[in-house]
Amino acid sequence: MAGPPAETFGARLRQLREAAGLTQEELAERAELSLNAIGALERGDRRHPYPRTIRVLAAALELTEEERTALVALLPKRAGRTFQRDSGDPVSLPTPATPLLGREREADEATALLRNADVRLLTLTGPGGVGKTRLAIRVAMDIRDEFADGVWFVSLAPVIDPELVPSAIVQALAWHENVDPQPRDALLRGLHEMELLLVLDNFEHVVQAAPIVVDVLHSCPRIQIIVTSRLPLRVSVEQEVPVAPLALPANGVDASLEDLAQVPA
Ligand SMILES: Nc1ncnc2c1ncn2[C@@H]1O[C@H](COP(=O)(O)OP(=O)(O)O)[C@@H](O)[C@H]1O
Ligand SMILES: [Mg+2]
Repeated sequence: MAGPPAETFGARLRQLREAAGLTQEELAERAELSLNAIGALERGDRRHPYPRTIRVLAAALELTEEERTALVALLPKRAGRTFQRDSGDPVSLPTPATPLLGREREADEATALLRNADVRLLTLTGPGGVGKTRLAIRVAMDIRDEFADGVWFVSLAPVIDPELVPSAIVQALAWHENVDPQPRDALLRGLHEMELLLVLDNFEHVVQAAPIVVDVLHSCPRIQIIVTSRLPLRVSVEQEVPVAPLALPANGVDASLEDLAQVPA
């Protein structure tokens, strides 16, 4: 490659592309990105690409691990953040103790919906124990790399008062500065710059807090939310995915013969 590595993300991307002998069009085609996206990245007009974008670019350019790491290191740190997180790990999800059975179809459906940035609120509905929380965790795991600021799981089960939902979310996000006396404002301000998937688990406890979800979605353009709830929130932006009982017993060992006889398969 001619000359030393360029010092900005866009210039370095262009250099790597040219070294690979590709035009912008060819790279766009290989990476299944738009020509506009490649151009904006190279010009430096787009400075916060999705992790997925980086992945497909690295694959299309056949970058080594070192080249990819060095390229990512050139991305500007996001300045002016209202909040900094304590933990560098952008994924906070519970780890279930047992393997997940089935649910591929539902998980794929939910993931596909969330990949459409216009689907801002996905509500997994169904009776208690049907598997909404497990499915939400699975979906969030599957899609976690696609959110620059990661995925965050907020259990609302312990929250009795709907008024306390904003502070429960702020706490779960582990924002350590600006202990704002108005958690709702803090939440909206903090999430405004972020690209993040929130999982709000057990929303049926706090249905009156539905307006705060709507506020977040209105004022924070790159936040998407998965809610689990027995009933839908019935707000206009909502996409409901009903969760039906598994066709197989959740625990084959404990299933009685009677239960097994009910299984269609
Ligand atoms: N697909 C699944 N595979 C294995 N275990 C499951 C599955 N779905 C649910 N479970 C288990 O069943 C119980 C209830 O599931 P959960 O997701 O908490 O239901 P819900 O959130 O609808 O009340 C949990 O112990 C969970 O681990
Ligand atoms: Mg649950």
